[in-house]
Amino acid sequence: MPRIRVEVDGVPYEDDVEPRLLLVHYLRDRLGKVGTPVGCDTSNCGACTVLLDGLSAKSCSVLAVQADGHEVTTVEGLGTGARPHPMQRAFHEEHALQCGYCTPGMIMAAIDLLRENADPSDEEIRDGLEGNLCRCTGYQNIVRAVRGAAGEMRQGAPEREVSP
Ligand code: FES
Ligand code: FES
Repeated sequence: MPRIRVEVDGVPYEDDVEPRLLLVHYLRDRLGKVGTPVGCDTSNCGACTVLLDGLSAKSCSVLAVQADGHEVTTVEGLGTGARPHPMQRAFHEEHALQCGYCTPGMIMAAIDLLRENADPSDEEIRDGLEGNLCRCTGYQNIVRAVRGAAGEMRQGAPEREVSP
């Protein structure tokens, strides 16, 4: 079995993996990163989105061996419950989730979207997140959350606690 070395959420790992093992299953089953869900396994829903060297990637469409030598960030590496990333906080404060299944992928894709465009219009946000499906919210609050997080991040939002 090939051996991979990968940094996940800032922690280095070295593991022997089956060549066919998907990154999402490596993250969940080997590393316990169950914050990254599997919604479809066919590259459609975006629920499994992570950052691979800072770029969003659907981790069900990447083999674990392809992550060898790279950095992966999951939603669990963004912030803590008490001190969330501004995007996590915005999703919480704007009620941008219901069942929450799409939320980790939405957040990761939205962060990548803002990396490319720090001040997106609502239409650009919708376009940027078109690879991420939500069956619950109707997207309106998701767009509002991303717009809010974008404003905070442009101002270099300090970490602060979420309101209950
Ligand atoms: S689980 Fe990866 S896109 Fe749906
Ligand atoms: S909040 Fe349920 S799928 Fe998006």
